[in-house]
Amino acid sequence: MDFIDLKTQYRRLKPSVDERIHRVLEHGQFVMGPECAELEQRLAEYVGARHCLGVASGTDALLIALMALAIGQGDEVITVPFTFFATAEMIALAGATPVFIDIDRRTYNMDPAKLEAAITPRTKAIMPVSLYGQCPDLDAIEDIARRHNLPVIEDAAQSFGATYKGKRSGGLTTIGATSFFPSKPLGCYGDGGALFTNDDELARIMREIRIHGQDRRYHHPRLGMTGRLDSMQAAVLLAKLEIFDDEVAARHRVGVRYAELIAAKFGTGPRANVLAPHVERSNTCVYAQYTVEVEHREVVETRMKALGVPTAVHYPIALHQQPVFAYMRLGAGSFPASEAAARRVISLPMHPYLTDEQQVKVVDALAQAVA
Ligand SMILES: Cc1ncc(COP(=O)(O)O)c(C=O)c1O
Repeated sequence: MDFIDLKTQYRRLKPSVDERIHRVLEHGQFVMGPECAELEQRLAEYVGARHCLGVASGTDALLIALMALAIGQGDEVITVPFTFFATAEMIALAGATPVFIDIDRRTYNMDPAKLEAAITPRTKAIMPVSLYGQCPDLDAIEDIARRHNLPVIEDAAQSFGATYKGKRSGGLTTIGATSFFPSKPLGCYGDGGALFTNDDELARIMREIRIHGQDRRYHHPRLGMTGRLDSMQAAVLLAKLEIFDDEVAARHRVGVRYAELIAAKFGTGPRANVLAPHVERSNTCVYAQYTVEVEHREVVETRMKALGVPTAVHYPIALHQQPVFAYMRLGAGSFPASEAAARRVISLPMHPYLTDEQQVKVVDALAQAVA
């Protein structure tokens, strides 16, 4: 069993993927080719944003967003410690300080109740993460941001295709940043990402940063990078977009089925020995990961591996406890919800082509592993 099955998806899409890749080989515009503009238009429509920019990765998307907002030395950006490293890494790489606030224990996302107390005169942005494929309470976050005149950057790397109150993730905040890493809900065949905004001026600045801060050929009013999505990856994404709605529906089916199987085997509620994910009523989740909580995680991982079921941990160390952030002197106990999640979470195989039989096998193995 695969943790994520990209081969089945390729077999389904082979004619379209192959044809689109060949077209790029034929026209030879490998950088900023026609596929890039077509993809940006499609993605902007899908998300419901005025502007979309294809970029080289989700990590570059975050850095470009921060640079476009002129965030740097002496500035603070509020984010969460329970996320993939890139979120806080890019804030620090931009020269600013990541200021962590704890997560909501049920959704693993930023707890808006903790936000206002963390705002200082140095705060320049808020960067919530839509972890595992569902958005945080973005209205609550946006309300506070508006009162303090702060932009919000959604790290939507794991939530492309998810909705919050009926609107698509990525298009809900000042800037949305997503990733097309191969294992993501919409993934390419290498690294890729996208930025979304409704702000014309920010879109213009981000376009310049994406290409070395250039406003016209060899004329550089600002610093930037080689931050573009290439034509080959855009071609792959255009092919995958054709079936994306269907795949998102399949992800929901798999998610619902896991919840049923887990409830039947372990019961529900905080005392169950396997805790299934909680999706808020305002949200649809794309389950970039299907992540449950268990006691004695290392034992569960080893036993499941022996039973032929791959698992992964997203993420084992909260970011304030990463060596590179030791200078912050945020010891154990600083963010109890994030630390508890980091100790207990384990992700099960999750992709749109998981069969009912395979899901039964996973949950049976989980039952043996936690026993
Ligand atoms: C929450 C989060 N932020 C940022 C990133 C970075 O994306 P990429 O791997 O495309 O650079 C990822 C991807 O793993 C992620 O999960």
